[in-house]
Amino acid sequence: MNRKILAAPSILSADFAALGDDIKKVEKAGADWIHIDVMDGHYVPNISFGPPVIKKVRKVTDLTFDVHLMIENADKYLEDFKKAGADIITVHVEACTHIHRTIQSIHALGLKAGVAINPGTPVCMLEPIIGDADLILLMSVNPGFGGQSYIRSVTEKIAAVRKMLDDRCLDTYLEVDGGIDDKTVKEAAKAGANVMVAGSYVFGSDDPKAAIKALHDGLK
Ligand code: DX5
Ligand code: ZN
Repeated sequence: MNRKILAAPSILSADFAALGDDIKKVEKAGADWIHIDVMDGHYVPNISFGPPVIKKVRKVTDLTFDVHLMIENADKYLEDFKKAGADIITVHVEACTHIHRTIQSIHALGLKAGVAINPGTPVCMLEPIIGDADLILLMSVNPGFGGQSYIRSVTEKIAAVRKMLDDRCLDTYLEVDGGIDDKTVKEAAKAGANVMVAGSYVFGSDDPKAAIKALHDGLK
């Protein structure tokens, strides 16, 4: 099996004082998408940034903006994120009362819709919407902070969702987020993930090109 692996550096670990330069740097290093973590201090115990910051950095790159919303009341802000330049908006099943409606709203804006679950949420929660989402995001750390360790039990969940997708002949992206580096990428890729989010591993590296290559080579 030769599945192409995409690398999505998370700017949560970038230098916020030089965000545009850092994004350019990972683009030159071979990043496929830019992963953008939005946190509200309610759904997760941390606050990051919102649409105005995304709008500014939209000017520095044409790469896909993969916006991961870790916020309550996501429906209220979808249009703002679209206007700011999001290409994919991912929401958490745990944070959305009417997840199917939220997916519809994201699609109505002309964007790709992703659905995320936390490490403690079972994959069966994805069953009712798996055919509607363009991307499934499996959190491999508890959301809120960069630099945490990969939670090993998530590997089984990756394999289970890969099977759910393959059984339905779905070409949906299967993304993993949290604690991904040159070692854990292999485990996640072998289990069937094809989009690797990595924050501290890429932005903390002296050689982002080599780090991104290690993500691309996850199946080798
Ligand atoms: C965590 C975020 C992640 C985070 C990953 O809540 O969703 O995207 O930035 O960071 P690392 O790769 O450092 O675990
Ligand atoms: Zn994320």
